[in-house]
Amino acid sequence: KHGYFTYDPGFLATGSCESSITFIDGAEGVLLHRGFPIDELARDANYLEVCHMLLHGDAPNKEEYEEFENTIKRHTMVHEQIHMFFHGFRNDAHPMAMLNGTVGAMSSFYHSDLDVSNFDMRVRCAHRLIAKMPTLVAMCYKYNIGQPFVYPRNDLSYAANFLNMMFSVPAEDYKISPAVERAMDRIFTLHADHEQNASTSTVRLAGSSGANPYACIAAGVASLWGPAHGGANEACLNMLEEIGSVDRIPEFINRAKDKNDPFRLMGFGHRVYKNHDPRATVMRESCHEVLKELNVQDPLLDVAMELERIALEDPYFAEKKLFPNVDFYSGIVLKAIGIPTNMFTCIFALSRTVGWISHWHEMMSDPAQKIGRPRQLYTGHNQRKYTPIK
Ligand code: SDX
Repeated sequence: KHGYFTYDPGFLATGSCESSITFIDGAEGVLLHRGFPIDELARDANYLEVCHMLLHGDAPNKEEYEEFENTIKRHTMVHEQIHMFFHGFRNDAHPMAMLNGTVGAMSSFYHSDLDVSNFDMRVRCAHRLIAKMPTLVAMCYKYNIGQPFVYPRNDLSYAANFLNMMFSVPAEDYKISPAVERAMDRIFTLHADHEQNASTSTVRLAGSSGANPYACIAAGVASLWGPAHGGANEACLNMLEEIGSVDRIPEFINRAKDKNDPFRLMGFGHRVYKNHDPRATVMRESCHEVLKELNVQDPLLDVAMELERIALEDPYFAEKKLFPNVDFYSGIVLKAIGIPTNMFTCIFALSRTVGWISHWHEMMSDPAQKIGRPRQLYTGHNQRKYTPIK
């Protein structure tokens, strides 16, 4: 029916969906956003161009881009009272816990003027979220390290504004390197959307009841946090640090193969890609570029490169179709930029918010949209008589 595949109408009843946003061919390692290949977008577009195409349906022309960028810049501040929410967290709270809480709290600021059946209101909600996530993520970091929050600046690009809110302090401005700004923007693009992954499906299912979209995005943040999903980039860097040196790689490769050992190579394998993750290829390139431009000699990169080489030569990994995914190299780039490991998944959530909210908007724009109701295979008791407790 769609040129790529056909499906029976019953397919849609299971809470799965029809979407025109992203196409993945797992066997061929293809990822298209509105038909554009991810490697071309990562090299030739910026993240806001990708946000425009995901949300509004196509790549923007120059005028559309300038209007979109100005709209996003008008929404980068958060309500001043959001600052109060942070003071309810312990300083050592995990940034994802604070992000989950504050994104959910935004539903308390935006509800009365939000009719989810109204197209324009949904688009404004999407603009607000795309604009405010960098501010909230940077606030999580600043609260963790005891530094004052930094307000957004509209004279900076999306990526530069985020980096400035993360790293500038009242005592001195943060000097933004073009290589770091480019790498940050590329990381945002490579994580922007990925079809019906666990967190996007969470947002769609929560939103299918008509729930407040900010609360639905908070549900997406919660799902992404898991180490099997967006938490993998943090887990991957922790794993590389645990391996520590190239000579210890065989020990971990053997553990990954041992059925009795729960250890998994973080950053390897994928639910859908069974050949290669096209995002990892671009991320690997960025990794080398950033480390070279910043003149960073990170021994963890040596460990990562050798781990990738050994794993890809080992027949076990080929048989299990295990290869580096998008999270394998992103952590090394983020570390090189100076972002601490516990912030990695927040960066993923920042990037993926446009995917989540674009899928939500697409679903809510469908007049035939129904509340999701995934099916189950019942494996419990047959009907039987209840005996009350004497
Ligand atoms: C993301 O869905 C998305 O699109 C997600 C994502 C996105 O953009 O939204 O792409 C982002 O989440 C990327 C994946 C990040 N996660 C990790 O890197 C964590 C490590 N990877 C694994 O947990 C695992 O590979 C998954 C969860 C990613 C995929 O799991 P699957 O497809 O269910 O594969 P599986 O668990 O059935 O594994 C198949 C076999 C198993 O062996 P058998 O039971 O067949 O003997 O491969 C083995 C697994 O034991 N295996 C691994 C492994 N991943 C799978 N063995 C060692 N190390 C691994 N990483």
